[in-house]
Amino acid sequence: MQATTMDAYDYIDQKNQLFIDNAKAQLKDLSQYSTEALEWLMMEHYQFSFANVMFLTDAAESTAAFDTDAVNQELIRNCAEENGHAAMYRAALAKVNCDVDSREEFPSTTRFLSKIGELSNQEPSAVLGTMFATETAAIFEHEVFLDISKEVIKRRHWGDQGRDLVWFHEMHLGGVEQSLYASTLTRESGLPLW
Ligand SMILES: [Fe+2]
Repeated sequence: MQATTMDAYDYIDQKNQLFIDNAKAQLKDLSQYSTEALEWLMMEHYQFSFANVMFLTDAAESTAAFDTDAVNQELIRNCAEENGHAAMYRAALAKVNCDVDSREEFPSTTRFLSKIGELSNQEPSAVLGTMFATETAAIFEHEVFLDISKEVIKRRHWGDQGRDLVWFHEMHLGGVEQSLYASTLTRESGLPLW
């Protein structure tokens, strides 16, 4: 049987859901983790936010090979936006005493980020798949990190000083940026997913 575009969407959705459910299950009960461990997770998450600017820059260059420049232009726009977001995240974390500069490198995060970097530099349709995956993951990431942020703010009694951090995640969840972006990528490129 020939695979259809709908099969591809369903397949991706199912794979995504399995991954998301597994990650969320591990972070459902935050009381089992120390405050230090939760702060460490936030600093590791920031690494993606920071590196994402480079992924988007590389992806924009790679997708310039498409006949249409719609994808390339959207990636350039998103890159400019994300550049601002990493700075916001960093400042919000600093307000709750998480200094991202004090972080020690964690090899698994380095490997994870370098793999995404590699995938962002492949042939254009593979890059499209990578962007689809990272943007889809963004929604659940912000859901999880909103809860983690609130938990840390509560435990450390940060009160209003934690407001920017909560807002940062709520801002992402409140918009439809990610889903719109993902559908724009697939629709405007006119390409099958594989
Ligand atoms: Fe963002």
